[in-house]
Amino acid sequence: KISANTSIIGKSVIYVPSCHSTNDYLNQLISNKVIEEGTTVVTSDQTKGRGQRGNAWECQADSNITLSCFLQPHFIEAKDQFTMNIAVSLGVYDTITSLYSSNVKIKWPNDILIDNKKICGILIENYLSGRKISNSIVGIGLNINQTSFNGNFPATSLFIETGKKMNLNYASQLLLENLDKRYHQLKNGEIDRLKREYYDNMFWFQEEGLFEEVNPDGTRERFNGVILGVNDYGCISIAKENKEVKHYAFKEVKHIY
Ligand code: BTN
Repeated sequence: KISANTSIIGKSVIYVPSCHSTNDYLNQLISNKVIEEGTTVVTSDQTKGRGQRGNAWECQADSNITLSCFLQPHFIEAKDQFTMNIAVSLGVYDTITSLYSSNVKIKWPNDILIDNKKICGILIENYLSGRKISNSIVGIGLNINQTSFNGNFPATSLFIETGKKMNLNYASQLLLENLDKRYHQLKNGEIDRLKREYYDNMFWFQEEGLFEEVNPDGTRERFNGVILGVNDYGCISIAKENKEVKHYAFKEVKHIY
């Protein structure tokens, strides 16, 4: 039983023992009936989890947090959508740092890493009405007790990092409380503070790195650059060696190392 001490996110929690994807389950709920903002769907066995770029999100049953929250951030204009990613990333960041306090980083746009290994993925699906966001489904997969991974990107869990199994309800409650806190900051217009904290904890912020640009024709080019920041559209700004600054959307560039 999850009972988070929150005023929006997780005030109402729906637990389903198993489902394909909590994002899809929640989407179905929203289209069938009126549900309260903050309603959160949690499952212990997600069988067809979805990730960004159309990838699959796989996890062992009864091991990790897989949940989705229904939000109605009507106060956010479509062009400022990325502020949702910032607030949610920080809520997850807060949770992992309080459970495990070492080298936790946010990798643009919203992966959470421990020592370069992915511990959490976030899939935010926004639905627009005119120039504003009407509904938002915030899906979070946070690896807690999973013992091994076999994807192509290095992944980890809290168990792998600490050697200790953790109570999933406790970790979920903490996550919902941190998300709620960050969502309130966003609602209260504390954007500058959220951005500053996002940058403070951002992987490779203002450091030199190797990137790969994906051209529209699918060809790829590698270059060295320095991340200068992220604009409200969610594009990353990178200064290239020749000092030219370019903005890339999520699918247009990849961090190599
Ligand atoms: C990614 O890093 O590619 C995002 C992964 C998001 C996974 C979560 S798990 C709960 C929610 N339901 C889904 O189908 N996906 C998200």
